[in-house]
Amino acid sequence: MNKEILFSAPEIAHRVRELGREITVDYSNRPLVLIGVLKGAFMFLADLARSIDLPLEIDFLRVASYGDATTTSGTIRLTKTPEIDLTGKEVLLVEDIVDTGSTLAWLRQYFKEHQAESVKMCALIDKYERREQEVVIDYAGFRVEKGFLVGYGLDHAEQFRNLPAIYQGVSNE
Ligand code: IMP
Ligand code: MG
Repeated sequence: MNKEILFSAPEIAHRVRELGREITVDYSNRPLVLIGVLKGAFMFLADLARSIDLPLEIDFLRVASYGDATTTSGTIRLTKTPEIDLTGKEVLLVEDIVDTGSTLAWLRQYFKEHQAESVKMCALIDKYERREQEVVIDYAGFRVEKGFLVGYGLDHAEQFRNLPAIYQGVSNE
């Protein structure tokens, strides 16, 4: 896969700190739980959590939604559910990237049904061209129109998650 850099590590760090400051202000004195969507959000969540100056809890869930690397199958199920009790908690879902929006729309419904006090969404990347479901992304790091992105948690066939920057695939392979 040929790729070119889209967001450098310092650009990402700067934006994540801004998001952390915003979340710190919005959630002061509220029982915040960050729930990372595995696997793509693991790196973003680690940095975001360190940018939020509040007591908080961290958990993860895992969604199976993609049949292969670049197309959506349309079916969503949780292959790992959060383990901490969410009753009365303010849930902030942390996602790597929102594409069609089906995952976030499904997850928002799931948390409403699981007694969370509130559910908000934080996504590092809002990739909007292929959006099919109207979703509100309460905290979005970067907006991009389209493209297949890798790095900083994002994968292509499980590769590239460890890259510290975000790259866009270019099709002259
Ligand atoms: P959605 O349900 O179509 O919004 O899909 C969101 C999920 O698809 C993300 O959490 C990613 O796991 C995956 N995905 C969508 N676009 C990309 C991309 O450009 N690179 C890597 N994964 C992606
Ligand atoms: Mg994902």
